Amino acid sequence: MIEQEKIPAVAVEQMNRVHEEEARRINVLLESLDTGADFATVSEHLETVLAHMREHFGTEETLMKQNDFPMYRLHKGEHDKILQEARRTEMEWRNRRDTEALREYFEEQVGDWLHRHILAMDTPLADYLAGRGEV
Ligand SMILES: [Fe+2]
Repeated sequence: MIEQEKIPAVAVEQMNRVHEEEARRINVLLESLDTGADFATVSEHLETVLAHMREHFGTEETLMKQNDFPMYRLHKGEHDKILQEARRTEMEWRNRRDTEALREYFEEQVGDWLHRHILAMDTPLADYLAGRGEV
């Protein structure tokens, strides 16, 4: 499970809420794996996580563009990379139905990524936006 209280808080409340929702959806997926849910149910939770990731990144990218954020390309590059990886993981899940691989990917890789990304990328973005009085 991803511990909500360990997610670093940024200066923009709207972004914090999106991060909490992402962790919540990942936890719903992990719980379905832990409780032995069937393939269709797990796949549905996985879709919900992926949809939220796209929405979450899209919202941040719009904010960056609207506010001429200087690190836009670097930040978007990290979003694109993890999304591509998550899509590949989804394909593997559909092909192999390996619950342990799926659990490991979201709990460890995505969990760690989210933590690092919030500290390195979202924190400066939130500070920038808050400094401009935009949000
Ligand atoms: Fe981000």
